[in-house]
Amino acid sequence: KSDFTLSGRAAAKVVVLGGGIAGLATAYELGKAGYDCTILEAQNRPGGRNFTVRGGTTTTDLYGTTQTARFSPGQYMNAGPARLAQWMVTLDYCRELGVPIEVFTNVNADAFLYNESAGMTAPARYRAAKADVFGYTTEMLAKLTDQGSLDQQLTASDKERLMEFLKDYGDLGGSLEYTGSTRRGYSVWPGAAGQPGVVAGDVPSASEVFASGVGRYFSFEFEFDQAMLMFQPVGGMDRIPYALATAIGARRIQYGSAVTRITDTEHGVTVAYSRDGRARSIEADFCVSAMPPNILAKVPHNLGSGVQSALEAITPSSAAKIGLEYRSRWWETDYRIYGGITETDLDVTHIWHPSYGFHGERGLLIGYYNTGANADSYAPLTPAQREARAVAAGVKIYGDKYRSELATSFSHHWRQFPHQEAAWHSTPGGPDDPRYKPLTAPTGHVYFAGDWLSYMDAWQHGAFSSARTAVTALHKRALA
Ligand code: PHE
Repeated sequence: KSDFTLSGRAAAKVVVLGGGIAGLATAYELGKAGYDCTILEAQNRPGGRNFTVRGGTTTTDLYGTTQTARFSPGQYMNAGPARLAQWMVTLDYCRELGVPIEVFTNVNADAFLYNESAGMTAPARYRAAKADVFGYTTEMLAKLTDQGSLDQQLTASDKERLMEFLKDYGDLGGSLEYTGSTRRGYSVWPGAAGQPGVVAGDVPSASEVFASGVGRYFSFEFEFDQAMLMFQPVGGMDRIPYALATAIGARRIQYGSAVTRITDTEHGVTVAYSRDGRARSIEADFCVSAMPPNILAKVPHNLGSGVQSALEAITPSSAAKIGLEYRSRWWETDYRIYGGITETDLDVTHIWHPSYGFHGERGLLIGYYNTGANADSYAPLTPAQREARAVAAGVKIYGDKYRSELATSFSHHWRQFPHQEAAWHSTPGGPDDPRYKPLTAPTGHVYFAGDWLSYMDAWQHGAFSSARTAVTALHKRALA
């Protein structure tokens, strides 16, 4: 059952610029309604920023550096999108296209938190950090409430219920003190009769807990777009674009085709492009441009200064990842960490444990997923230098196996990647700001789509939603 349908059929010819998620979704939905679509895609694969790196994948960045991934069979790295929330329309496409999904572990009580600048010399486990932060904050609030400090704000029964909640939430003792909790975990886990376990000791003081800054990571898992459960396609995120490409039909997608000029004409659109070094051109009744705005802004066109200044107002952002393949899954055996994310204040920022292949022989960590200045600081390094710096950071948290078990790595920097030059974009004022009107409404016969033109920038949901809006408007006009 489809969630989205264009009712009524049309046969107009449409040229779609870009075979990322927005472009593929456009051609897929229009194709179902009878349109004759052609996608021009500059790269030799579908997906755009939806890009999964496996053994044999080769890239060349804007510095001219070529990498070929040496990952083992079954190991992969989602260089771009890597997680889907349950409400996102991306899951509807997975269902409709038959792309199997599995849980992506976005938060793990046994993953680590490490703030070096706060003086931490060893990582904390999420579960212990949460017990301590919630314990001490609820202790203070419970004591103030109990002393009557909130009597102006609370009725007697409010007060009673708040006290009940705080004692439970913080695991407070009878005297409203937080003195540690089994929620911190055990240094010896409980087992059979005679083995009650040993609760993890060394409860830090309230002052130490607040100084460590670990609490700053907790709200992430409450976010509307990041809360568990999250999902990923089995075998790699690019299962989505490949399934879309199959459904659209291979003959409708022209790879290696970079757009060189867009001309709106009296009755349609002419798009010039180059393929295999040869200048070509295609005519259509309509065009849907689903290229990144920063790349589109460099393409000559006759769509007017409103389009150009809107495109130029939208600025590219940086993000990067390194995949580290290991000869063993030591994070599972030595640390009992099965998926989830370690958060740091180091320049690697986020370290991801794999949510697939548990108990397998090998495994692949994301050694950095960083953004902005942190991503930019790794970009000019050679792949070997990036690896060395990422590993040095990881050793601080996980110890020597982070270096000694490493088999191979592959790093990807979106700002320095041809045909994208951005991980995502900043659209000042949001997509409904009047300055973007020439993009959210058609200009001549040209429509625009992309996550950057939605309220869900940096999510495939935004690309799919934007494509649905563009094809709905185009279809209405074609039928009129
Ligand atoms: N969607 C991307 C991610 O999940 C980027 C992003 C991060 C977007 C956080 C919004 C919030 O990492």
